[in-house]
Amino acid sequence: MFVCICNQVSDKQIRSAVDEGIVSNYKSLTSELNVGTCCGKCKSCAKKVLSEIIQEDSYTNSFRGGFVACPA
Ligand code: FES
Repeated sequence: MFVCICNQVSDKQIRSAVDEGIVSNYKSLTSELNVGTCCGKCKSCAKKVLSEIIQEDSYTNSFRGGFVACPA
């Protein structure tokens, strides 16, 4: 879905930018993808989407390092 209509930025693009380490907060979202830099109506939605993506990633990462290999 499009998060920022003015700049045609989708949630998938935001996720990719977060996964690539390009975006880590709202400020970098606006500077890197121009989200919210035109009419500004997408700001609250963009913040919510970014927050959800970061929370999902931290939840996923908590499991990545959480498993201990059993000795053979
Ligand atoms: S919808 Fe994002 S700046 Fe207008």
